[in-house]
Amino acid sequence: MIMSYPAVPVLSADVPAVSAPSSDVPAVPAAPCDVLVIGGGLVGLAAAWRAARRGLRTAVVDPAPASTAAASHAAAGMLAPVSEVTYTEEPLLRLGLASLERWPAFAAELSADSGHDLDYRTDGTLEVAFGSDDLAALDELAGFMGRLGLPVERLTGRECRRLEPMLAPAVRGGLLAPGDAWVDPRRVTRALLAALERRGVTMVPARAAGLERSGETVVGVRLAPAGGSPDGRPPSPGEPPGEPSGELSGEPPHGGVILAERVILAAGAWSGAARWLPPEVVPPVRPVKGQIMRLRSPEPILRHCVRGSVHGSYVYLVPRGDGELVLGATQEELGFDTRVTAGGLWELLRDARELVPGVTELELADVVAGLRPGTPDNLPLIGPTVLPGLSLATGHHRGGVLLTPLTTALLMDEAGDHEELAALCSPLRFQEQR
Ligand code: GLY
Repeated sequence: MIMSYPAVPVLSADVPAVSAPSSDVPAVPAAPCDVLVIGGGLVGLAAAWRAARRGLRTAVVDPAPASTAAASHAAAGMLAPVSEVTYTEEPLLRLGLASLERWPAFAAELSADSGHDLDYRTDGTLEVAFGSDDLAALDELAGFMGRLGLPVERLTGRECRRLEPMLAPAVRGGLLAPGDAWVDPRRVTRALLAALERRGVTMVPARAAGLERSGETVVGVRLAPAGGSPDGRPPSPGEPPGEPSGELSGEPPHGGVILAERVILAAGAWSGAARWLPPEVVPPVRPVKGQIMRLRSPEPILRHCVRGSVHGSYVYLVPRGDGELVLGATQEELGFDTRVTAGGLWELLRDARELVPGVTELELADVVAGLRPGTPDNLPLIGPTVLPGLSLATGHHRGGVLLTPLTTALLMDEAGDHEELAALCSPLRFQEQR
């Protein structure tokens, strides 16, 4: 892909906005943009799209938007707040349910804006148990879900196989969450790129290197070239570790500044490594590695998204309309390590085969490791920071795809009566402690 440098307000770092830019910076209009998003993963692109739909002048800074390093490239795309509910994480459930409600309109509007099909499916998740220990845990979970008033249906093993004939005879029982859905995140990011292009959003292939301030207020972002970090720092938003970041049609806007009314940091797992931010606003985000495998068959072998536990070890199988089957995912605390390991893939296949023995017959299409942006309380960081003009949209951990519509609604103040949800996600919950 050839990317050209932007027709946005990129100014030399050391000249005032009205002056002519220096020779290594493209000649550009001097008007600030309304919204500048740092990070071209799914959340960042979606935030930019929603801003552009509102008629705001919008730009995205990322060396390689929607690259293979983005968590959304690895993600399976489960929109499953009910079947993924966890004890003690009821706030996360509330966010997930609120976002799931927004997915039908979000998907319809994005498809219409981009002309892309997202493979958005609403056939529900089937949670299954393999061993007697798994069945006991499933019964306990069913009780918990019942107390929360969640719409689930308890099924016998035979009823599970009636819904999904490829399930193993050893599957002992299940829970159907009929309201859960899923989508293909790679299609979503492609659709977002197309929609952004149609709406004239500027893509700036550079790294953020600092904030431009007027007193306390953030008024823009300083840029650095798109290449890797010479001092060994973890790479910036969307920049694949150790890979070149796209073919560029000119020199990067080295030393340039983009002025903006509002800056949104959406750099996923890299957000916590943004040392160019003032320390008080660096979000407490860490990378959580997930390995995932894509298999292929001529026809889909499952109708539902299937999640299961095999002697306490969890695996999910997400079917796409074109016959792809996604198996996921490991959860590893290994920093910015993105190696795909034999052990990680073995665990996925071992458990998936117990639940759906036919998976071993399928063609192996792709293996990938992505980095989820984890936070100390497993809740995302969305909204204004202590610095006026700077917002965060990061820390979505295991729920980035699910939480995208709610995230953009909170950022753009489109979430209606959302004070309680906004408070759950507020970055101030960590910043005020510092
Ligand atoms: N939401 C599934 C995962 O992060 O693996």
